[in-house]
Amino acid sequence: MSDILLELKDLKVSVRKDKSYLPIVKGVDIAVPKGEIVGLVGESGCGKSMSAKSIMGLLPSSARVEGSIFWHGKDETTDLTGLKEKELRKMCGPEISMIFQEPMTSLNPMMRIGDQVAEVLLVHKLVKNRNEAREKVICLLSEVGISEPELRYRSYPHEFSGGMRQRVMIAMAMICEPKLLIADEPTTALDVTIEAQILKLIRQMCTSHNMSAIIITHNMRVVSQLCDSVYVMYMGRIMERSSVRELFENPLHPYTKGLLSSIPKIGDNPEYLSTIPGNIPEAGKEAVGCEFCLRCSDDERKCFFERPGETKISEDHFVSCFCVEREGRIS
Ligand SMILES: Nc1ncnc2c1ncn2[C@@H]1O[C@H](COP(=O)(O)OP(=O)(O)O)[C@@H](O)[C@H]1O
Ligand SMILES: [Mg+2]
Repeated sequence: MSDILLELKDLKVSVRKDKSYLPIVKGVDIAVPKGEIVGLVGESGCGKSMSAKSIMGLLPSSARVEGSIFWHGKDETTDLTGLKEKELRKMCGPEISMIFQEPMTSLNPMMRIGDQVAEVLLVHKLVKNRNEAREKVICLLSEVGISEPELRYRSYPHEFSGGMRQRVMIAMAMICEPKLLIADEPTTALDVTIEAQILKLIRQMCTSHNMSAIIITHNMRVVSQLCDSVYVMYMGRIMERSSVRELFENPLHPYTKGLLSSIPKIGDNPEYLSTIPGNIPEAGKEAVGCEFCLRCSDDERKCFFERPGETKISEDHFVSCFCVEREGRIS
């Protein structure tokens, strides 16, 4: 049996504009091993959310998906891109679930917190009745760190802080015991101390429920605290992929180095904080050469005309960059 739960193979997402399609995700390969937390990191607008939404079939009708999304279930492998909407809906909850950046927009402000979580169980017919659902929800609310869960079951979303609402979203995502959790910028709306608590909670839930996760973030700090492996994305392409430890010890792509050096450290002079020069170009454009060449600190001319393939550095470290090839770091 495969150790991989989900595999994106040459995934392309484009969106219709006037009479043509603009490429947003340009052929991405990502593998999510069972029980592991995979990070997808990159600046805003590079196509992270579009990639994640394509897994759950949540893209707008103006978007077109090409390539494959293989789900390696218990007995068989399914290409999710071939499923009908109804079949995909059945998987959302029991197999895959997703949490988003701003929990307030995902919760119904008119409905009690507990009832909203219970509803997921009832819709998927995973309990016999409301009482059984209520018991399960109270148990899970307590597991995600909500004190006095019986009392809090009856609260409305506005009575909760941002961090507590994100805990509720995690409970809602976990209630059907999915095999894969996709969290899109789960802590971006939270302050740093609450962020650390929520990341710890996601890790605990993954470990105790043997769940895999894809964490989407623009923040390398989140990757370092939570993920096992990481994919660095720029303008719809993967620039570098590696285990988290290796990426932090030996970053090779100039873009990865830029992302890492822009994490502020204690004692840094704010006047000299490092940034990546230039801005991310407008989405929907396809470069002839490397997508990053206009912002790259390296002046290899070839990069403007030719796209680098993936270079294997070690068993779990790959990078797409001519500079790395030139420096002879091929294993
Ligand atoms: N429905 C849409 N129609 C046209 N362009 C879109 C649509 N949704 C997203 N985009 C564009 O696709 C790019 C990638 O979006 P997204 O995946 O949300 O980026 P990220 O999550 O990495 O910040 C963005 O530049 C955005 O403007
Ligand atoms: Mg996004």
